[in-house]
Amino acid sequence: MTGSYIPGFGNHVATEAVPGALPVGRNSPQRVPFGLYAEQLSGSAFTAPRAENKRSWLYRMRPAANHPPFKAYTRPTGLRHRPFDEAPADPNRLRWDPLPLPTEPTDFIDGLVSIAGNGGVGVHLYAANRSMERRVFFNADGELLIVPEQGGLRIATELGLVEVEPLHIAVIPRGVRFRVELTGDAARGYVCENYGAPFRLPDLGPIGSNGLANPRDFETPGAWFEDIDEPTELVQKFEGALWSTTIDHSPLDVVAWHGNLAPYRYDLRRFNTIGTVSYDHPDPSIFTVLTSPSEVAGTANCDFVIFPPRWMVAEDTFRPPWFHRNVMSEYMGLITGAYDAKAGGFTPGGGSLHNRMSGHGPDRSSYETAIAAELKPHKIDATMAFMFESRSVLRPTRFALESPLAQLDYDDCWSGFTKAKLPR
Ligand SMILES: [Fe+2]
Repeated sequence: MTGSYIPGFGNHVATEAVPGALPVGRNSPQRVPFGLYAEQLSGSAFTAPRAENKRSWLYRMRPAANHPPFKAYTRPTGLRHRPFDEAPADPNRLRWDPLPLPTEPTDFIDGLVSIAGNGGVGVHLYAANRSMERRVFFNADGELLIVPEQGGLRIATELGLVEVEPLHIAVIPRGVRFRVELTGDAARGYVCENYGAPFRLPDLGPIGSNGLANPRDFETPGAWFEDIDEPTELVQKFEGALWSTTIDHSPLDVVAWHGNLAPYRYDLRRFNTIGTVSYDHPDPSIFTVLTSPSEVAGTANCDFVIFPPRWMVAEDTFRPPWFHRNVMSEYMGLITGAYDAKAGGFTPGGGSLHNRMSGHGPDRSSYETAIAAELKPHKIDATMAFMFESRSVLRPTRFALESPLAQLDYDDCWSGFTKAKLPR
């Protein structure tokens, strides 16, 4: 079965999978239609300002409260949690090869491994070769932004079906229960776990009322449920650790819901890319899809930024990303193609980390190509890199530092630049 979707970002939605299941005119009637249970799922404090307030009302076959105690999850996990202090914060520029696909049966939960994080965000990878079976997960610690790089996912959530493939993203709010199924033999990708303010669309300033990711292109699933009375493991991530319990039914039994707290998906190919038509190029913030703001204006807990296909037409301009040192910290990944500042070593499924004030930019080969290039209009095609950019240093995990995936020679790509020649 495939899902139905409602277009728009952050809207208040009312949806029912069975006609008549959604109460009309009140949230919690004395008796809910069909004996369903009304339950509020809050994504913000009750008293958060209206513009920040996120909650949905769920009408389900059994209350979510209906479960035995959670016990510590016993299987090994590569997940790590804030403050990400198991290894020294490493100021070096770091880069990794892609995570190998598992050889043992591994689902989304057990296929997660953490790369880096800080108090506001965790960066994880996943690699799986089987669907979650009779297992449902939720994350009490943060919202999950899932970026598939390989393989499609059918994410069955309490609020509906979210189907994604590479070049899509999915966002699952904190607390929403879901099961990740693979549509092919294997799946791999990236996860941004956002402990801060929920992702939202960035302000557009002088760009105006349209552009970048347009609200109508985000899709929220319509109500969908399953009626399965079989033992189901319910796993949660709570304050960094995994916990597990078993219930006697699928908790994906929400027959109707309404509200503005819901999962959604977005096709990155719909991004309206904006760039220069004269000279230089704007800061990479011009490519922001979603932002999780902090309490400091314009200084994100996390920006999700993409580098999509685009025309390069700037005159008398070094066209790749320039050399820079940034107060913000940058984790980059690659979904497909090549990135225009790195001629080699940065491959789909791989990643790089350029933390606060580390000098980075084009590698020598990309630099030399760019300064010699004839500046005719040029299309960067069939590429999609992305960045999780955070105001706080992204502290690498021990796995990230010690894994054979780490490219120990990464610094070499910036060696050998010839010295500038000043007039004598
Ligand atoms: Fe950068």
